[in-house]
Formats: sequence, structure tokens, C-alpha cells
Amino acid sequence: MTPPGSRAAQAMPLRKLAAEKGLVYGTTISAAQISTDHEFVDLVLQQVGLVVAENDMKWQDMNRGRPGKDDYGAADTVAAFGIENDLALRGHNLLWYYRTPTWFFDLATRRDQERAVVEHIQRLAGRYRGMVHSWDVVNEPIEPKDGRPDGLRTAVFVETLGPEYLDLAYRVARETDPTARLVVNEYDVELDTPDHEARRTTLLNLLERMRRSGTPVDVVGIQAHLCCAGGPPFSASRLRRFLADVAGLGLTIQITELDVTDENAPADLAERDQLVADTYSRFLDAALDEAAVKMVVTWGLSDRHSWIARRETNESKWRSDGVPSRPLPFDADLKAKLACEAIANAFVHAPQRVAG
Ligand code: XIL
Repeated sequence: MTPPGSRAAQAMPLRKLAAEKGLVYGTTISAAQISTDHEFVDLVLQQVGLVVAENDMKWQDMNRGRPGKDDYGAADTVAAFGIENDLALRGHNLLWYYRTPTWFFDLATRRDQERAVVEHIQRLAGRYRGMVHSWDVVNEPIEPKDGRPDGLRTAVFVETLGPEYLDLAYRVARETDPTARLVVNEYDVELDTPDHEARRTTLLNLLERMRRSGTPVDVVGIQAHLCCAGGPPFSASRLRRFLADVAGLGLTIQITELDVTDENAPADLAERDQLVADTYSRFLDAALDEAAVKMVVTWGLSDRHSWIARRETNESKWRSDGVPSRPLPFDADLKAKLACEAIANAFVHAPQRVAG
């Protein structure tokens, strides 16, 4: 039997359904996948209009243990793949506390840290100047639980450089690649909990400050790593209000890392796939109501290559019963699932918008 998802997807690939509404649909990819998994690459070329390196452009992943010693080989492979295939390219990311090379922590002075940040941004954003649709300049800048009045994450950059590191990073990114849209990318701002609400408020305050002080920022990236069972509640109206607040600041919005973990869902495949698909529908139906949302990127395209299914870390969210996770639109055999149909339907029902 043909799974229902494949009918929608085969009739019209996700990228086309998205493009008809002024949206861009994209996925992560890696240099390793590009060179070894041709079947997967074919699916990517059929389904998406944009690619983003899952890890290959992260500073720590590229760095070879010393300042200035970055290996751009894998990053170049992803960028070239995008350009050669006429796909838009997201840059992920210029700064992320979690993937900063270890030597950076030993830089004692403000001057040394500032120089390292500036040079890194100039080299990386400069290398792909004119090729990148959007750069996640700072990934995950806030953490209200760290206790600062401004809600900024205390880790790494704030410690020595102060909150001005944000202004510095966005200015250097703008100077280096003036055509790239500059993004603040953040997680856990989607759901209906006090924690997510506090993060939304903090993020809005940060964006307001950046706008007021003339710091060049164009886009808010909402990661949207969701969960289909046993997770916090979702409120469509809360999400819509937040997105409207972001749009009110004159910014556009990208959904940058969408996926749905099935960690607490029953093992039964049909039931699990339905729960995952319903989660995609609920989230996208609400999010795409807002015309400032211009892009949807899933954090992978097939369960074959999901960070959730990969179990590369020991994080507790991966399923403990050994049943392979099914968080993405296509399964590990590259067959469309109900999740694919849910995304296709969300695009079909989305209001028309001006592309951006
Ligand atoms: C993840 C990758 O998918 C993993 O392969 C890697 O081990 C860790 O990073 N938020 C982000 C992404 O901004 O860069 C993360 O990607 C997922 C969470």
C-alpha cells in the first residue's frame, strides 16, 4: 500500500508547494552525505529549495586546535552543492557558545577574544560572501535561567566581551557579507509554558534593544525542536501572538530546525507516525498564519540522517526502548510518511506571502 504521505509529496515536492506561497523549504545536509548517500541526495534535490550544513560550518567542527587553523573542506562541499544545484544556502552558524574551539576559552584579554571573534566571522562569512541567503550570526544567545537582568546566556562571549559582543558580531557579519540576511536563532520559544514565555519575553527585549541601537538584524530563527507526546502543551494563539510581536519589530521569521521527537510516543508505528504528523500540522498551521514567516527548514529530511535517530549523544530524549525514532518527513528508506503529508498540507493551506 502506498503510504498517504507519498501521494502528496510525489504529486508536488515540498519545495514547490512552499514556493507557491512565497515560502522556502529546506533541510540540513552534510559533506559526508553528499559524497556517500546518492539516493538521499536525489531526494534532497527533489524536495528542497535550500540547504544548511548540519555541523560542517560550526567553528569547533572546522577548527584544527589552533587559532586561525580552520579546515573549510566540508563546509565548501556543502556550499558548492547548494550553488551548483541552484539551492539557497543558510549559514549555520558564525558564533555558538556550544561549538566554540577550546583554545578560545584560554584567551585572557578582551582584545584577544574580540580579535578572534572578528577574524572568524570575516573568514567564514567572507569565504561565502554573496552566496548565503541567511546567516545564523549568534546561535542561542539567551538563557534567562542564567540570571542576568538582560537574560543573555552568560557562557563564553558575555563573560569577557560583555553584551556588546552581539553588536560586534552582527556589524562585522553585515560588513563582510552585506547581502546575507542576519538571523538571531533561538530554541524553546514555541510552547505554552512559563519557561518558554520567559524566553520569548527575553528574546523580544533583546531584539528591541538591537533594533533601537541600530545593530543589523533582519530575521528571528525559531528552531522548533518539538516533541509529539508527553511534552509541554502548545498554544496556537500564544505562538501567533509571539510571531506577530516579532513581525511588529520589522523582522521576518524563519523556522530553522523543525523536527518532532517521538521519545515518549507508543512504539506502534502507525500511532507514532500519526502523533508526529499531528504535531507538525498543529505547529505549522499556527506558524504559517503569520505572513512574516518566510522559511521552513526541517533538521534533516529523512529519519536515516536525523540527529535524533542517530543516537550520537546520550541525551535522554532519544528513545530508550531501542525502537528507531521517526522524527522527519521521510523514513529511513526515503519513503514519505504522514509527517510529509502534514507539511505538504500546511504549505497548501498557508496564506500567500511576499517572499523574503
Ligand atoms: C546538532 C546536530 O544535529 C548534531 O549532529 C550535533 O551533534 C549537535 O548539534 N540546535 C542547533 C543545531 O542550533 O546546530 C544542533 O545540531 C541542534 C540544536
